[in-house]
Amino acid sequence: MDELIKISVIDRHDHQHDYEVPDDIGISLMELCKANDLPVLATCGGMALCATCHVFIESDHDFGAMGEDEELMLDQVPNFRKNSRLACQIQINSDWEGLVVRLAEE
Ligand code: FES
Repeated sequence: MDELIKISVIDRHDHQHDYEVPDDIGISLMELCKANDLPVLATCGGMALCATCHVFIESDHDFGAMGEDEELMLDQVPNFRKNSRLACQIQINSDWEGLVVRLAEE
């Protein structure tokens, strides 16, 4: 049986949305946000080319090394922080159990 993992997304009005998703769901955090009608434009469709899926990781996760594309894109966002990530580059799996992210300002 699939294990459920908890993921929380805080929107730009400070509302927290809690989700429980199967660990083998095979989608990115960006896709989870879009499926739940959160205001994530994702205009590049998840190619790490638009940064409209920029999030800040608020939980204490080791987010590992970024891919080169993600790093290059985040380099260009004005509100970059140490905990910035692109939601389209985060594949949901059990490593992210308890993840809390905040949507970056547009
Ligand atoms: S959807 Fe465009 S960078 Fe993530």
